[in-house]
Amino acid sequence: MSVSNIGGGKPRSDWKVTMNPDDLYKNPMNIAWTFDYIMSGDKVEDLYKRAKQNQWDSDELLPWDTVVDPSKPLINARSDVYHRMPFFQKLSKSQQETFTAHSTAQLLSQFLHGEQGALMTAACVTHSVPDATAKMYAATQTMDEARHVEVYAKYCDKIAIVYPMSLWLKALIDATLKSDRYEKVMIGMNMIVEGLALGAFNNMYRTTQCELLKKLTFNVMRDESRHVSFGHAYLGPVIAKLHPDEVEDLAEFAFAAVSILAGGGTAGTLASRVDPGFMEVLANSNIDPDDLFKGLEEAEALGITQELPPGQIHSLNDLMMPALARVGLLTPSVRKKYEEAGIPIAEDARILNAMEGGHPVAAE
Ligand SMILES: [Fe+2]
Ligand SMILES: [Fe+2]
Repeated sequence: MSVSNIGGGKPRSDWKVTMNPDDLYKNPMNIAWTFDYIMSGDKVEDLYKRAKQNQWDSDELLPWDTVVDPSKPLINARSDVYHRMPFFQKLSKSQQETFTAHSTAQLLSQFLHGEQGALMTAACVTHSVPDATAKMYAATQTMDEARHVEVYAKYCDKIAIVYPMSLWLKALIDATLKSDRYEKVMIGMNMIVEGLALGAFNNMYRTTQCELLKKLTFNVMRDESRHVSFGHAYLGPVIAKLHPDEVEDLAEFAFAAVSILAGGGTAGTLASRVDPGFMEVLANSNIDPDDLFKGLEEAEALGITQELPPGQIHSLNDLMMPALARVGLLTPSVRKKYEEAGIPIAEDARILNAMEGGHPVAAE
């Protein structure tokens, strides 16, 4: 398979830059000046110092001269949900490899688009959070996210393909950017999207066979673990001081955001199946969507889609829900909503704590 026929998503050089009206909007956020320049002396200041010390330059740090063959699977996919499906095992080896190459490219494209969303939300927190140390920390995160956009764009160039942003991911980040309080931006990004990202990066780090991608992912994850930690360290005490009605408003926002994710962000859910980018992956792999969906139903009936491969972490159960639980955003009334929506409530924060504590990779 040559570089040109991995396209479908397209090389960036072939993209037409068009502005979709939905991609240009106003947000109702207040801008906050502060004239109290005293550093907080707490965990947020520690995170700011760590962020300064751990800045890195991808030009110097990463082996960009690594040759990447886009026709070879970038990951060891034996343990992913599709490769464990009986339907998938009946496909030829080359069809399986084509699907793996394209679905990995689609995932990397979501990393790229998601990083742009993170860049904008971090800038938004910088201008709207009223605390001086948090403002300065958010500025370091903005730079981190710019670096992440840079490295994923460069890596996508290596594989000569960019798939479109998944609709559910765009909807989730748009809801975050359109919100009216910096607390909601931090909930949407530092707790939910970055929880999702940290889990996905961890799984990519563990399964990729490409040394460049492995090193790139490790360094991005080290930054992301700080970002998730900031959501807890800063927002926890802020939420503890809010009026119960305001806490309820934030808890409702978190529920709405998690619902968008649960509807589309999990492999095999209906929304992820009909996502235009994923449909392109199937078309490029010559797989009939109906056959795949039937195969997924069969795998679900066998319980295959419920199992998590060893060493991989579950973003929702291991990172996001525990992050919301420990800052008090699982109020009695939203707990009922999660139950009604069939979204499991998980409160064990051990994996989350370990990944925030400077150990960006989940324990073996
Ligand atoms: Fe990032
Ligand atoms: Fe981040």
